[in-house]
Amino acid sequence: MGADLFESVRQIRVKENQMTYQTILPDIGLSPENRSAVVLILNGLLGDVSVLYVKTRSAHWNVRGLHFHHLHGLFEEQYGELARIGDEVAERVRILGGQPISTMTEFLEHTRLLELSPEFYPNTGAILEDLLQCHERVIHGIRAAADVCEKKHGDVGTTDLLTGVLEKHEKMAWVLRTSLEDFMRDAGEVSPVAASQHPAS
Ligand SMILES: [Fe+2]
Repeated sequence: MGADLFESVRQIRVKENQMTYQTILPDIGLSPENRSAVVLILNGLLGDVSVLYVKTRSAHWNVRGLHFHHLHGLFEEQYGELARIGDEVAERVRILGGQPISTMTEFLEHTRLLELSPEFYPNTGAILEDLLQCHERVIHGIRAAADVCEKKHGDVGTTDLLTGVLEKHEKMAWVLRTSLEDFMRDAGEVSPVAASQHPAS
């Protein structure tokens, strides 16, 4: 191994519980600065996806009423998809030599999403609208992040991952949007979230 290559494969020793682990930093054509910047972006997305996963599980547990059977199953499909997305994002962080956030506290610190107040459960319209708005917010974030990762940080691998994740969120948002339209047509109502955001003048 040449000196340059040896130096580029820096080794970090971490002592924990009397054991020594060696971490070999990735030499994949991305500078440490670019890898760190992308890791920060990915951890933000991981916070969003993790919070959205919990919200969707909550919806699966709390939904009631006319559309229960359809929505109970739909939410189960979607939290499964969100779990897979979170796994891909967290593993990409490790691939880049970073540390994925993984505690509830970290998820809440990193997310851009707000929790839905329990007062809205089990209002199906409010649950659907909240999930839809969350997915759309995540979609906006991913679209911007994909561009930054490629153009600013040269990380086409992450941009490719984000493009796939973007399409999955777009599809989930479409299904939620259509389900909300169906619910509102059948229930003949406007969800309280929408009503509170757009009060009658
Ligand atoms: Fe279940």
